Amino acid sequence: MDKAEKIVAEWYSNHPISAPHILTKLKSSGRELEDVQPQDLYPYDQDHYDGLDANARLAENTGMKSGDSVIDVCAGLCGPARWFAAERDVQVTGVDISPNRVEGAKKLNTLVGLQDQVHPVLASAMDIPFEADNFDAAVSQESFLHIPDKPKALREVYRVLRPGGRFSFTDWVMHTPLPDDEFEQYRQRFACQSMLSIPEYQTQLEKAGFTVISADDVTQAWGDILARRLRMYQDLDAEAERAGNPSKGDDFLKMYAKFVDDVQQRRVGGVCLTAEKSH
Ligand SMILES: C[S@@+](CC[C@H](N)C(=O)[O-])C[C@H]1O[C@@H](n2cnc3c(N)ncnc32)[C@H](O)[C@@H]1O
Repeated sequence: MDKAEKIVAEWYSNHPISAPHILTKLKSSGRELEDVQPQDLYPYDQDHYDGLDANARLAENTGMKSGDSVIDVCAGLCGPARWFAAERDVQVTGVDISPNRVEGAKKLNTLVGLQDQVHPVLASAMDIPFEADNFDAAVSQESFLHIPDKPKALREVYRVLRPGGRFSFTDWVMHTPLPDDEFEQYRQRFACQSMLSIPEYQTQLEKAGFTVISADDVTQAWGDILARRLRMYQDLDAEAERAGNPSKGDDFLKMYAKFVDDVQQRRVGGVCLTAEKSH
C-alpha cells in the first residue's frame, strides 16, 4: 500500500457507513440477526449515489449474466457486490484497500448467507492480485477519485478482464480545473487524490487498451441525489455519535455541502463510463 492509499484506508476507518452502523440499523428496525436476507441490507449498505438503480445500470452496461465472474474494484463493504450476487446470480470478487471494509464485508456476507458467492479481497486497485483474463465483467462506483495512479488502475482492470469483457463505472470528474487551494480541500476532507475531466477519462481508458462504449455525464442527476445524501450524512453522523460508532464530524459535513454546491454549479460532477476489452 502506498502512502496515499494508507491515508485513504485511514479515512475509511472512520466513515458514517460502516458494518457496525449497518448492524445498529438492523437491530433498531427490530430485525432478528439470525434471519437476515441480502435485501434487508440494501437500504444501508450501498456507499454510492442512486442506490440499487445504479447497480442495475452497471449490470446492464456490462451485459452481466447468470454464472458470470465479476470483479468490483474498490468494493467497500460489498453492498453492490451482494446485490449483483443476489439479483444477477453472479460470483463477485470485491477488491478494496481498507482493512475495516474488507472485514466488515466478510461479516455482512456471512450474515446474509452469501459468503460462497461474494469474495472480499484486501488489495489495491493498482495491483490486482489475479491473473490476466480472469473476469467476465468489472464494475466500480465513486472510488477512482481515491486512487493515486488512475492509469495504472485502468491498466490493471483491463488486464484481469477477459477479452470482450466490459468495465462499467462511475466516478467524480472535474468539469473545469479547480484552483490548487480548493483541490487541497477535496484532498484533505475526502481523501480525493485526483479528478479527471470526462475527455481525459476517455483518453486514459483508450491508452489502457479499452474501446470506450459510452460516457454519460451524470452531473445533473447527481446534484439532486447529493443534496439528499448530505441530509443522510447529517442524520447518520448524529446517530453514529449517539451509538458510539465512527463519525466524521462538522468539517466533513461542511465540505460535503461545498461539494454539493460545486456539483450543482457544474464545477465538478459525475460520469458513468463503459469500456470494452478487445477480443
Ligand atoms: C465510496 S466507497 C465505495 C464502495 C462501494 N463501491 C459501494 O458503492 O458501496 C470507496 C471505496 O474505495 C476503496 N478504495 C479507495 N482507494 C482504493 C484503492 N487504491 N484500491 C482499492 N480500494 C480503494 C475505499 O477503501 C472504499 O471502500
